Amino acid sequence: MTGAQRTDRLHNQPPLDVNRIRQDFPILSRLVHGKKLVFLDSGASAQKPRAVIDAIKNCYENEYANIHRGVYYLSQVATEAFEEARRKVQRFLNAAESREIIFVRGGTEAINLVAQTYGRKNIKAGDEVIISAMEHHANIVPWQMLREQTGLVLKVVPINDDGEFLLQEYEKLLSPRTKLVAVTHVSNALGTITPVREIIRLAHAKGALVLLDGCQAVPHTPIDVQELDCDFYAFSAHKLYGPSGIGVLYGKAQILEAMPPYQGGGDMIVSVTFEHTEYNGIPHKFEAGTPHISGAVGLGAAIDYVTAIGLDRIAAHEDRVLHYATERVKEIKGLRLIGTAKEKAGILSFTLPNVHPHDIGTILDKQGIAVRVGHHCAQPVMDRFDVPATARASLAVYNTNEEIDALIAGLHKVREIFG
Ligand code: ALA
Repeated sequence: MTGAQRTDRLHNQPPLDVNRIRQDFPILSRLVHGKKLVFLDSGASAQKPRAVIDAIKNCYENEYANIHRGVYYLSQVATEAFEEARRKVQRFLNAAESREIIFVRGGTEAINLVAQTYGRKNIKAGDEVIISAMEHHANIVPWQMLREQTGLVLKVVPINDDGEFLLQEYEKLLSPRTKLVAVTHVSNALGTITPVREIIRLAHAKGALVLLDGCQAVPHTPIDVQELDCDFYAFSAHKLYGPSGIGVLYGKAQILEAMPPYQGGGDMIVSVTFEHTEYNGIPHKFEAGTPHISGAVGLGAAIDYVTAIGLDRIAAHEDRVLHYATERVKEIKGLRLIGTAKEKAGILSFTLPNVHPHDIGTILDKQGIAVRVGHHCAQPVMDRFDVPATARASLAVYNTNEEIDALIAGLHKVREIFG
């Protein structure tokens, strides 16, 4: 989908009853420092709807036992709930088969898994891995670690002053030695939506695989991995209104099958002797040890929750709030937006002259407003814009224009205090 197509699609979405949706999130009705909570840090981790909380509670109260191990009733019920969650993820991503869905601890583990299995096996000294200048640390460091192990060459696609991915520069970096392109789908620090279709098409033309880091994309846009034709897609549940400690690695079946396992232990084996171990097939080959059973169930409930509302409707709502916020921050003297790409999702990063972002965060917190301040685990992005840190408001389905009004009032207060 091009940017213009996305805009059209979003404009055609009916409005959400956001006040109704807010009632689904118990935490949103609490006070913080005696003020109404304004939660603008869903990019770090989203709040949980009652449906997710109830699904996790039900798992422990009624359907819990270890999975894939027991002949008894409860183990079978738990196994079925876990595998049903896998099928929900499959449908959510439109993956061709449920065995292409690997449960991992989160987006970070998904990327490390690819680096240490696909990478260790297939990437040799002098081969190239391409990332972009807007990656967060979880999509930089695993490749640096692999570089130490293999001698690969790590290339970085530059971004422009708006924080946009430079496709022409990317094309110049691709070469017959490019083995893998690993880029974010949506930047956590800037909100930029990257041109993933073009990125994938150009990489495949050179015979390189593509891994998309979808952690910031899945809560804001429908994903179709078959239509995208990406080779790997990684995301964590906790930014998608699900529990923390669980995430997903999607991979094309034939690629996953050819990869060596990641960790050794229960579930990833068929048989073990001291001389030899026969590994299980996918997805279990990559799921050593007892997994996060209630986490998978909670993720399944989160997927049901966002699917029932509709990802396009969620995206359209957040887009309206983002536009409103982008207009309103213009009244704050000296405020500099970091990340002004044409195609953005859910993120408003900014700095104020002569005020450290930590002070912005602390003063806003006293008003009950939660924003993230710091480098957002993306220090090279901060270097690119020559700032030590930013304050970041990140949006979710439950945010409203009134909350943006509260943010603006809070920022006026910051200005009053710091002059
Ligand atoms: N990567 C997460 C964030 O952007 C933690 O805040």
